Amino acid sequence: MPKLIVTTREGETSEVEVENGLTVMEAIRDNGFDELLALCGGCCSCATCHVLVDPAFTDKLPNMSEDEDDLLESSDHRAETSRLSCQIPFTEDLSGLKVTIAPED
Ligand code: FES
Repeated sequence: MPKLIVTTREGETSEVEVENGLTVMEAIRDNGFDELLALCGGCCSCATCHVLVDPAFTDKLPNMSEDEDDLLESSDHRAETSRLSCQIPFTEDLSGLKVTIAPED
């Protein structure tokens, strides 16, 4: 199974295996990282699934929609590598992807 490497806000890093068909947000949430609130459940309307993505994978990520861009703009912690994790389907291609949960807004 493809692997995702998650770093928490406290700086702890762990590796999780991701079932086919999940988004990065679901993979993080389902593996017990409670600090990723994902309040809207993945409908791209809350921005509480904000993560910073390993720049090495930028080219493999789906393009950002206008909605995602707008929501990220509302975050005080937006960075060059910011994405909403519910907008990234986790595919084999992304195995080894490193994400860091963004600071809370
Ligand atoms: S879970 Fe709400 S925007 Fe991603």
